[in-house]
Amino acid sequence: MAHGGKAVARHEGQVLFVTGAYPHEVVQAEVTEAKKRHSFARALAIFEPSPHRRAAPCPHFGPCGGCQWQSAEPGAQAEWKREIVADQLRFVGKLGNVEVRPTISPGPEFGYRNRMDFALVGGRPALHREESQELVELSVCLLLVAPLFQLFVDLPIRPLADRVTLRAGVATGETAVLFDDEHGVIHEEVAGHTFRVTDRAFFQANTAGAEELVRLVTEVLAPGPNDRLLDGYAGGGLFAATVGAGCREVVAVESDPVAVADLKANADLVPVRAKFESSRPRLPRSWDLVVVDPPRAGLGREGVETVVAGHPRTVALVACDPASFARDAALFTNAGYRLEYAQPVDMFPQTFHIEIVGAFSR
Ligand SMILES: C[S@@+](CC[C@H](N)C(=O)[O-])C[C@H]1O[C@@H](n2cnc3c(N)ncnc32)[C@H](O)[C@@H]1O
Repeated sequence: MAHGGKAVARHEGQVLFVTGAYPHEVVQAEVTEAKKRHSFARALAIFEPSPHRRAAPCPHFGPCGGCQWQSAEPGAQAEWKREIVADQLRFVGKLGNVEVRPTISPGPEFGYRNRMDFALVGGRPALHREESQELVELSVCLLLVAPLFQLFVDLPIRPLADRVTLRAGVATGETAVLFDDEHGVIHEEVAGHTFRVTDRAFFQANTAGAEELVRLVTEVLAPGPNDRLLDGYAGGGLFAATVGAGCREVVAVESDPVAVADLKANADLVPVRAKFESSRPRLPRSWDLVVVDPPRAGLGREGVETVVAGHPRTVALVACDPASFARDAALFTNAGYRLEYAQPVDMFPQTFHIEIVGAFSR
């Protein structure tokens, strides 16, 4: 499997990225986009199926772009994610000798999403077809946690609304239905801590996964009472409030004003509302530990420079894109840090999305 969820195939000397196929299958595929060095294709018929192939449980699998790997067993999905992280580290980061641990699967393989954003077609929820603007109307979504599954089925029809966000606190049972720009607040519990989550501000979409990330980041950083922790891209304070609880001082940087307000409510810390990459002038001179959890684009050169400017002894990089992770890992290596191991976490089963925790030390 390639980063992005497609299977890699070779045909007449050309590399093809095939949607709808899995490793070691023999398929008939139609080329959808031909390029000089590689092409894209879509599987039409499976002649020799993978032993990991199964019947997809959701009636919308295929047309709906929400899930790409539902027709593969969960164990195979987890192993492909580990291989993709290792491949990206080798090819993008030139880090072929790093330990990539077996993927951790923290929760159920369905019914795990505590938040989902849908487009609306005539008031009914819809998702995009893969790599398309076309909307696919949905009667169910098997990824939703139980309270949202029911809300989805009973969703009131708002013919004029364009989109809806469904949110739930799995532990608290609170739910919110936000049409267009409506406001709402829920609370969620992770690692014994209650978090306020406002409107569409970021919160980990898989609660069991959030619990696992907190455990992993704590394991990487091993924080002590004399440590000063920098939490970059802090959101509503998931790591600041939990991992940082035993630290001497926590400084948390976040750019979204709604998340910053949650951050202040959720954790005892110094909040800095800024873009992390340019926040250096507003930060203390040094810090002992860092957790950074950037969006898909990753840290980049300026983000890595900001992290290492305070000479931390250990850095936990939480990443949601394996290519950005590999590039950032190389930047940390050039800055004198060693990637001790990479831990993939399957926060989003049935999709190709991979969460990774990287442990860096000086
Ligand atoms: C993947 S989320 C992680 C949030 C938090 N660590 C958690 O686990 O809940 C990334 C966060 O970074 C924020 N963000 C995006 N770009 C940013 C930037 N350039 N500087 C600081 N924060 C940013 C987003 O608003 C979001 O809250």
